Amino acid sequence: MADKIQTDYVKACVIGWPIAHSRSPLIHNTWIKQYGVSGAYDIREVMPDDLEHFLKHDLDALGYAGCNVTVPHKEHAFLLCDHVDDVARSVKAVNTIWKRDGQLYGSNTDVYGFMTHLNISAPDWNKEKRPVAVLGAGGAARAVLYGLLQDGASEIRLLNRTQERAKELAHSFETPAIHVGDWARREQDIAECGVLINTTSLGMTGKPVLDIQLDGLAEESTVIDIVYVPLETELLTQAKAKGHRVVNGLGMLLHQAVPGFKAWFGIEPKVTDALEAIVLEDLAKG
Ligand code: ATR
Repeated sequence: MADKIQTDYVKACVIGWPIAHSRSPLIHNTWIKQYGVSGAYDIREVMPDDLEHFLKHDLDALGYAGCNVTVPHKEHAFLLCDHVDDVARSVKAVNTIWKRDGQLYGSNTDVYGFMTHLNISAPDWNKEKRPVAVLGAGGAARAVLYGLLQDGASEIRLLNRTQERAKELAHSFETPAIHVGDWARREQDIAECGVLINTTSLGMTGKPVLDIQLDGLAEESTVIDIVYVPLETELLTQAKAKGHRVVNGLGMLLHQAVPGFKAWFGIEPKVTDALEAIVLEDLAKG
C-alpha cells in the first residue's frame, strides 16, 4: 500500500458495491474545478467484507481526507466510525466520513439533502400542518422521517408493503406523530395528505413501477420521489398529469454532497442550475 503523501493536495472518494453508476465523482470534480481546489475525488469499489479494512487502513494509506459511503455500506460504516453526529446516530447510517487526528468522523447528509431540496422546492410544505404520507420503510425512509420530524411534521402516515417493518421503524422514533397504515389501503390513507413521498426503490429503472392511484389526493398536494433514474418516474408523470406540484430526487443527490465537500476541501459549494444541467446531461447518457 502506498505511503500517505503529505501535501495540500486533498483527495476524497466514494465507496460502494457496485459503484460504477455513482454520480458523486461528477458532482465533486465539477466543484473542484469551479472553486480551483487542489484535489481530486475518486470512485472506489469496496466489497462488504473489505469495508472495515478500507476505512481503518486504506483510507489513510491512500491519502484520502474522507469519503462518501453508499449502498450497501451505510449502516456498517456507522458502526465503524469513532465519532458520529446526532443525525447519523438517529438514522443509524452514515454517508459521509472524514478523518481528523487519526479518528473517523461520520455524518448522514441524506437528511440535509432531502430537507434542503424539499424546503427549496416546496417551502410551504408544512404550512397547513396536513399529514405527510411516506411510502417505504428502508434506510431512505428513516432519513426522510428524521428530517420531516426535525422540521415540524405533526402527522406522518407510514405505509410499507411489510407492515411489521414500518411498525419497527415508527417505534424507533418514539413519537406519536408517526401512524403506520396498511399497504393494501394506501390509496385511502394518502387522501388527506399534503405531501406524498416515495422512498422505495419502486419506479427506478430496472425495478417494478410503484402501483398507486393518486385519484384521492387533493390537487394542491405535493408529490415527491427520491428516485432520480429516471428523473421523471411513473409516479411523477401521474402526479403531473393530475396537476400536482412534483419534486424529483435529483436535488437531494446534489444537496447531500455539500457538507462532505465542505468537510474535505474547506469550501461550502453551491448547488446551481449549471451543476444540475451537468448531472442531467450525464444521467441522459444512461
Ligand atoms: P433503502 O435502504 O435504500 O431504502 P431497502 O431497505 O431495500 O432500501 O427498502 C426498499 C423499500 O422498498 C422497502 O420499503 C420495501 O418494502 P419491504 O419492506 O416490504 O421490502 C420497498 N419495496 C421494494 N420492492 C417492493 C415492491 N415490489 N412492492 C412494494 N414495496 C417494495
